[in-house]
Amino acid sequence: MAALLVDVDGVLVLRGDPIPGPKAHKTLLKRLRRTSRALSRKKKGSANRRKAKAKLAPFLSEGNRAKTMEAPVTAIIATDHAFYEHLPTLFPHADARSWFVGNQPLIDATAFRNATLHAAYVLLAARALGLDCGPMSGFSNRKVDEAFFPDGRTRSNFLCSLGCGDPAALYPDMGRRTFEETCSFA
Ligand SMILES: Cc1cc2nc3c(=O)[nH]c(=O)nc-3n(C[C@H](O)[C@H](O)[C@H](O)COP(=O)(O)O)c2cc1C
Repeated sequence: MAALLVDVDGVLVLRGDPIPGPKAHKTLLKRLRRTSRALSRKKKGSANRRKAKAKLAPFLSEGNRAKTMEAPVTAIIATDHAFYEHLPTLFPHADARSWFVGNQPLIDATAFRNATLHAAYVLLAARALGLDCGPMSGFSNRKVDEAFFPDGRTRSNFLCSLGCGDPAALYPDMGRRTFEETCSFA
């Protein structure tokens, strides 16, 4: 086929590059079917998950241990404090890596801010999928980092169990501060 050029607002130009035909699509569907079948046959509470949970258990505060062991999934939300090494790929239009190298306070503040924001998006995404989230600060960050992130560049922020919450275990309505108590206009 001759090259097809479509110009949308001067941004998108489609060249004549071939796109996968129905045969490639069928192969992909076959692979998806196989993966889906394997996943649906996976036994709940696999050995790996049990092992990882057992590894986490001693580092949890007493009050968080039982519920974390019972949760189907617990994520360790952690921050990559060497994030700036990815900037030549993620932010290639400037030498952004050089803004951070050697400036540890800036690295730590930026890493913590951005990773915490992204963790909040993860919670929103999980809730949008109908899952409940149980964020937890009650654990030893140092011990979790030593056990799970021996590279030293990744540091845990908080834990978050994901699953279907038990309404019977909820506290009665907790207080909420009003907008006026919480925010002020400059
Ligand atoms: C950052 C953060 C840390 C928390 N740490 C714990 C914790 O260690 N143990 C616990 O039982 N609840 C903890 N909570 C509270 C619960 O995870 C949960 O947020 C609470 O039950 C209220 O639910 P809500 O998010 O709908 O307000 C924490 C909440 C947040 C936001």
